[in-house]
Amino acid sequence: MSEFEYQNGELHAEAVALSAIAAQYGTPCYVYSRRAIEQAFLAWDTALAGQSHLVCFAVKANSNLAVLNVLARLGAGFDIVSGGELERVLAAGGDPARVVFSGLGKTEEEMRRALQVGIKCFNVESTAELERLQNVAAELGVKAPVSLRVNPDVDAQTHPYISTGLKENKFGIDITMAPTVYRRAAELPNLEVQGVDCHIGSQLTDDTPLIDALDRMLLLIDDLAAEGIQVRHLDLGGGLGVTYEDEVPPTPGEYLAKVREKVAGRELTLLFEPGRSIVANAGLLLTQVNLLKPTEHKNFAIIDAAMNDLIRPALYSAWMGIDAVRPRTDVPAQAWDMVGPVCETGDFLGKDRQLALAEGDLLAVRSAGAYGFVMSSNYNTRPRAAEVMVDGAATHLIRRRETVSELFAGESLLPEA
Ligand code: LLP
Repeated sequence: MSEFEYQNGELHAEAVALSAIAAQYGTPCYVYSRRAIEQAFLAWDTALAGQSHLVCFAVKANSNLAVLNVLARLGAGFDIVSGGELERVLAAGGDPARVVFSGLGKTEEEMRRALQVGIKCFNVESTAELERLQNVAAELGVKAPVSLRVNPDVDAQTHPYISTGLKENKFGIDITMAPTVYRRAAELPNLEVQGVDCHIGSQLTDDTPLIDALDRMLLLIDDLAAEGIQVRHLDLGGGLGVTYEDEVPPTPGEYLAKVREKVAGRELTLLFEPGRSIVANAGLLLTQVNLLKPTEHKNFAIIDAAMNDLIRPALYSAWMGIDAVRPRTDVPAQAWDMVGPVCETGDFLGKDRQLALAEGDLLAVRSAGAYGFVMSSNYNTRPRAAEVMVDGAATHLIRRRETVSELFAGESLLPEA
């Protein structure tokens, strides 16, 4: 069941009317449902009951401290890709021992900090990174837990910008080279081989590529074992898709049942790094119609949210649902392009949407909880939106709207003359 439903003709987040949120916090504003986040996480966690596992939320999908904290309270792990994300996890009360560190450009400083706080594992993406990690760990006199991110060369059949598991992609270590790199990892004194990981892409609406990747990873694990290199965990990354329009992706339960069947009888801890499937449909972007501009060719609804607030439509031609908060019947529905005020033709959140609109109406851009606020920018010197979390009948401001003066507070003029 969705936590965003119509009650008395108005879209609500849990028990709170969205118009009340707009009145209190203004628009544009990201609205999250605590219950939706919790339920989505528990769908993963409970489907893995009885199997040694750790679900590491991909922080990049939504890194607001309150979101991370809600997940930390449920015992979630976290998948990070920068020192900045590590600090967020720590500030949100996340357990460093449940953190895996992904990403292909880790700096020495990031490695040092992660070793000092004691993260669970480094997901290493190249031989050069392996050598660097060895040096940093030796400097600190510790052993760094490592997994190699293997590129299994499967086609995730998703948008090319979010497909990562083909051998022409920059990510991971070619699966055919992996045994060589593992041998090297095993001989480096300050590294401890813990696992193997992969991540083949995002918004996968069919689990066949995920299961193909799993099969290849299991073969690799067997090859490594034959050489005396024993991995304790298998991290299958994230990637499970969600419904934006009419996609019907497998549920976490359906996907995980297949995974469990494949690994049955093995002594492996399973790790996952879901991002989108936990938060996408737990959030929406609340925006207001600023002006209506019908023209001979097109009807434009100029809304107060723009590509700087939500870049997915502009960047990936992503389709996001857009609904009236209070659907009206006094004017006829017609096709509108929902555009922002930013000076770019690519600044749209939706095209050809049949809606009955008037100036001042509130709209909800659905499924915006993942890769929404985190990808927002200050382009056109637009302050970033507020973020609000609804919890039953309560609302909490979890990030206040930026002010214009904050946007250039770090800048300075050249000296006079
Ligand atoms: N693990 C790794 C190593 C990743 O690179 C990613 C996402 C994830 C986990 C989480 O994947 P998810 O479960 O969310 O699919 N900005 C794009 C998505 C980029 C995904 C990047 N990597 C979008 O808005 O569609």
